[in-house]
Amino acid sequence: MPYEIKEQKVLVTGGAGFIGSNLIDSLLLNDNTVVCLDNFSTGNIGNLEDAKKNSNFTLLEGDIRDRETCMKAVAGCEYVFHQAALGSVPRSIADPITSTEVNILGFVNLLFAAKEAGVKRFVYAASSSTYGDHQALPKVEHVIGNSLSPYAITKYVDELFAKNFSDIYGIETVGLRYFNVFGRRQDPDGAYAAVIPRFVSNLIQHQSPYINGDGSNSRDFTYIDNVIQANLLAAAVPSIVFKERLKEYQSSTAGVPEVIKEAAISEVFNVAFGARTSLNELAVAIKKGLTPYDKAISQVEFQYGPNRAGDVAHSMASIHKGKMVLGYNPQYSFKAGLNEACAWYWEKMK
Ligand SMILES: NC(=O)c1ccc[n+]([C@@H]2O[C@H](COP(=O)([O-])OP(=O)(O)OC[C@H]3O[C@@H](n4cnc5c(N)ncnc54)[C@H](O)[C@@H]3O)[C@@H](O)[C@H]2O)c1
Repeated sequence: MPYEIKEQKVLVTGGAGFIGSNLIDSLLLNDNTVVCLDNFSTGNIGNLEDAKKNSNFTLLEGDIRDRETCMKAVAGCEYVFHQAALGSVPRSIADPITSTEVNILGFVNLLFAAKEAGVKRFVYAASSSTYGDHQALPKVEHVIGNSLSPYAITKYVDELFAKNFSDIYGIETVGLRYFNVFGRRQDPDGAYAAVIPRFVSNLIQHQSPYINGDGSNSRDFTYIDNVIQANLLAAAVPSIVFKERLKEYQSSTAGVPEVIKEAAISEVFNVAFGARTSLNELAVAIKKGLTPYDKAISQVEFQYGPNRAGDVAHSMASIHKGKMVLGYNPQYSFKAGLNEACAWYWEKMK
């Protein structure tokens, strides 16, 4: 990569989770000193097995809802990668209060701590759910609809806080709107498991996976390694280059609002592959991906049920802005990523 984060001290929140733990492994490979803050509410210590063997790694068990903990975690760090949150639309519908406390109050605690500590850039996990009920495809960053769930609201409010902190305090913030991330270490268990690990786990056990709706809903499924690349670039692109490229993007793209002047960087980017796959296509692809390991999987049927509240029908990103400004260049298509994921889950669960 042209720009890299190397030999820096960084904080990864939510580092015991799916995305955070993969990010930590990449950062450690580049000789960074990594602090991980996690309360293990959905994360798993097993995800940190490799990291714990590295002397550049420190684990801090704590909650982002506690301001002192955030201050302690961020001390001396140049970059923050904020991944900790309670994911899942259905979880936020079942318990909007806890999702709000963690995803908004926790976010502001950490952003405040980062600004107090003088971090160079605050990179955070935003979400494609922010597009809400807006129908247009592909999704472009500056056009969003109304939020469809408490989770989506929390993620949008985070973007507002990030922008506001940049305007007021001058801290650089970059939000990455992830689109249905999948891959190694994503948890297949529990009521709020994401669709790919849930289907894979069901099929390996010869159980019929359950599709919400008629299977025509579609998503821009994004392999984890693309997401790691986006995070590293979001932190590494130097401010001056970032601003120049952003100006080029803004002047070359219809409808993008203001041209930044001397304001601190505060931008959001779609992180996706830029294609979409229906749930029916996903079901067929996963069966195909697992059948080489166990032929009986080809016989397992899917079941269908009603649509879920809060779900959007279709989602697909434009990744033009990330390509232009960050130099984002996703290496894994949905199919290539799915083959990697199937191999990993089979090895783990067989
Ligand atoms: N996976 C996706 O498809 C996806 C899509 C859009 C956005 N995101 C966002 O990406 C981030 C990472 O998601 P993930 O899929 O790795 O989820 P995950 O559940 O695997 O990881 C989240 C981590 O945050 C930790 N955490 C939760 N509450 C905490 C708290 N109060 N204090 C400290 N740590 C806490 C959890 O223990 C867990 O380790 C989240 O912000 C999520 O909202 C994920």
